[in-house]
Amino acid sequence: MAGYDDRDGKIWMDGKLVEWRDANVHILTHALHYASSVFEGERCYNGKIFKSTEHSQRLLKSGELLDMPIPYTVEEINTAKEEVLKANGLTDAYVRAVAFRGAGEEMGVASLGNPVRLAVAAWTWGAYYGDAKMKGAKLDIAKWKRPSPETIPTAAKAAGLYMICTMSKHAAQAKGCSDALFFDYRGYVAEATGANIFFVKDGEVHTPLPDAILNGITRQTVIGMLRAKGITVHERHIMPAELETFQQCWLTGTAAEVTPVGQIGDYTFEVGALTRDIANEYEALVRA
Ligand SMILES: Cc1ncc(COP(=O)(O)O)c(C=O)c1O
Repeated sequence: MAGYDDRDGKIWMDGKLVEWRDANVHILTHALHYASSVFEGERCYNGKIFKSTEHSQRLLKSGELLDMPIPYTVEEINTAKEEVLKANGLTDAYVRAVAFRGAGEEMGVASLGNPVRLAVAAWTWGAYYGDAKMKGAKLDIAKWKRPSPETIPTAAKAAGLYMICTMSKHAAQAKGCSDALFFDYRGYVAEATGANIFFVKDGEVHTPLPDAILNGITRQTVIGMLRAKGITVHERHIMPAELETFQQCWLTGTAAEVTPVGQIGDYTFEVGALTRDIANEYEALVRA
């Protein structure tokens, strides 16, 4: 497979479609040096982006949280995504929107003199965790902790929050794991490097409160699906010692969709009926 910079197709950049290989930035782009960048990951199923507007709204919100107002409306961003899919002939694809401070008058930490730019790309992307989706993913426990909302705007989907995700995922892969589970700055169970986490105990579901993690759009969708089925969902602080008491576990995320988890460190989980049901029902919902 060619590198992501070396493919045929079109990418939407700052208001127009450009050739894939020409969608470049200057080396003195502010975002590259100071992580002034926010993004979205979305999936298009059967020609329709699942929760496109919610993702565009979150992108704008992330920009605001980074003091980086994005000069496009939700409608303009939605349209850009549609244009990219159409221009590349894609109906089932992953969509990546990224907004960032470009090169400009500033090369120090301040960036108000630099333009806020927006790009949207789309490509075909299968199961994020490969065959873990069927067997249950194996997770490492990250040595890094999700930071406090007083340290960094944890509600933003911002590039700077992913530095420890990349490092933790590398460490996990070196141990033969698909991903890593973070605890947060208080020691509570938090999230994986690109997904939220759910547990099942005696027919009820437990998931971390999103007070220091991304309140994922998939997470919110799955909580709604569970409650509509009459299943009790506890959004609460979860201690690592509780991992031993849970029977099932799954991850949620746009890329991950609903992925069963079979193991976290030394703790094991069954890929049980509720996990399989929710994974199948999510699959049906996104294609509905
Ligand atoms: C750190 C992190 N947590 C959770 C999620 C899940 O969010 P969503 O369901 O909105 O894709 C993601 C993926 O975007 C993520 O990167």
